[in-house]
Amino acid sequence: MTQDNEKETPRLIRLEEVNSTNAYLHSLNQKERLPEGSVVWADFQTSGRGQIGNSWESESGKNLTFSMVFYPSFLLARRQFLISQVAALSVKETLDEYTRGITVKWPNDIYWNDKKICGMLIENDLAGEYIYSSIIGIGININQARFRGDAPNPVSLCQILGKEVEKEDVMHRFLRHVYTNYLTLMEGEHDATLAGKYLDSLYRKEGFFLYEDKNGRFEAEFAGIEPTGHLLLRTKDGSVRRYEFKEVKFVLG
Ligand code: BTN
Repeated sequence: MTQDNEKETPRLIRLEEVNSTNAYLHSLNQKERLPEGSVVWADFQTSGRGQIGNSWESESGKNLTFSMVFYPSFLLARRQFLISQVAALSVKETLDEYTRGITVKWPNDIYWNDKKICGMLIENDLAGEYIYSSIIGIGININQARFRGDAPNPVSLCQILGKEVEKEDVMHRFLRHVYTNYLTLMEGEHDATLAGKYLDSLYRKEGFFLYEDKNGRFEAEFAGIEPTGHLLLRTKDGSVRRYEFKEVKFVLG
């Protein structure tokens, strides 16, 4: 992914089983700096990690669970939301090739209608004001037919399409999208293209919906996203509320 001619080819490390692809990639990268864009892909994670300290459940061999590493040292830490945008858009563009109805639920869940088809755990290491490395962990539900965990609204591509899909095919399509979008980011085109495409892709972008913050439930409409990634919601009396990730929940029907 570097712009010079000394670019190393990304590695694709495929494992049958691992605790968590994010954890594995992180510790491997401390021993040897992997080429940018490298991927650790596992058929099964014994302790898949989700957001906010949750676990990520995925039936063995059925879904895509993988992590990739980038070194966006050109990005200020306060712009790290751009990495989320690249990752979320890339998954959305991939799934758009299979079905309609895919959106990005802020900040980086991927939805099909009102159900969650993909979650991400992005872990950035900082070097001063800049980002040193970004590990993007992605779980996409592909061929799982039943979900038993406590996730409220999971769905898989197979449930949507009514037939199984080749995981490898989804992975290769995703890699094409993510490398293209990351190059766009490196070239500084994020405001013109990535940010616009991200906004266009948003779940519940139009209309009033129920949300919940520490003070309770309220109705609001989408009012924007700041470059830092903060979500802006406008309530019916016209006031705008600003949220960091985890400070507000979308109330699902
Ligand atoms: C979420 O809670 O929505 C985030 C889920 C992230 C799951 C993926 S699966 C591959 C990678 N390795 C992990 O341990 N977690 C992420």
